[in-house]
Amino acid sequence: MSDADETTTNEAGLTADGAGGASVGAGRAGVWRGNPVAVITGASQGLGLALARGLAERGWSLVIDARTADKLAAADYELAKLTTVIALTGDVTDETHRADLAEAAAGLGGASLLVNNASALGGSPMPALADFPLPDLLTTFTVNVLAPVALAQVLLPQLREHGGEIVNISSDAAVEPYAGWGGYGASKAALDHASAILGLEEPKVRVWAVDPGDLRTQMHQDAFPGEDISDLPLPEEVVPGFLRLIDERRPSGRYQAGDLLPKAAASAAAADGEA
Ligand SMILES: NC(=O)c1ccc[n+]([C@@H]2O[C@H](COP(=O)([O-])OP(=O)(O)OC[C@H]3O[C@@H](n4cnc5c(N)ncnc54)[C@H](OP(=O)(O)O)[C@@H]3O)[C@@H](O)[C@H]2O)c1
Repeated sequence: MSDADETTTNEAGLTADGAGGASVGAGRAGVWRGNPVAVITGASQGLGLALARGLAERGWSLVIDARTADKLAAADYELAKLTTVIALTGDVTDETHRADLAEAAAGLGGASLLVNNASALGGSPMPALADFPLPDLLTTFTVNVLAPVALAQVLLPQLREHGGEIVNISSDAAVEPYAGWGGYGASKAALDHASAILGLEEPKVRVWAVDPGDLRTQMHQDAFPGEDISDLPLPEEVVPGFLRLIDERRPSGRYQAGDLLPKAAASAAAADGEA
């Protein structure tokens, strides 16, 4: 591990059944020793933490990161009650940090799942393209496109071995051109395209770009500073859609989490959104 990384390791040592994860690895082609391992970036809050909770409850071992040490430590503390967690403080744009994430996953038996969730908005409020400071635009693409591809590169040997999966978190802004969303939206469109090509190039690995839908998170609040976003669903509400994608090992492609939700959860999420 690099000196820059603050590392905490918790060995809860729960089996899949012990963690209540009856369907761990259901329908998966790969073989692994012990619990399956997921690497989730940006898992100290929001969707990343919700996905980490959902996977931990099913007995997945986790390697998680975020840049802010205290928030990551709080997530680590909570998740370690459910499963084995390695939490590495760092930035996905840092090559050494990415190598540390891959090394940590290898130490747990090898990654079966990579969730590229950490993301940059590009500014708050988000600037129009005409005024977008180019260093910020570069950072947006580095975090949202380059880092996910780079992390996939270092983890692909493990993912291939396990017949694993990559989830690249997308957005409707990748498809719909919203004024003010040029940097973020273009970067997510590029991530979608890279996901589609990786899916073609890697027959042993499923590669999914998943639009989670609008969620009540810090990033969404930053996108709409000062606005009331309390009507939006919490990230936990879309997690069952992601778990279904993983359980059913759907073909590589682009998905919307809302379309994968069981009907009841979908209507509850919709009702919550209307409240
Ligand atoms: N919220 C929505 O409505 C919505 C809609 C569509 C798509 N999405 C996508 O969903 C994903 C999660 O978003 P969210 O709303 O849950 O965001 P969030 O609540 O702001 O959480 C983002 C997480 O990523 C970490 N992070 C950010 N930059 C990082 C970096 N460079 N290196 C490592 N970790 C980093 C953050 O911690 P630190 O800041 O401490 O690093 C935090 O843990 C993103 O890909 C986003 O584009 C969200």
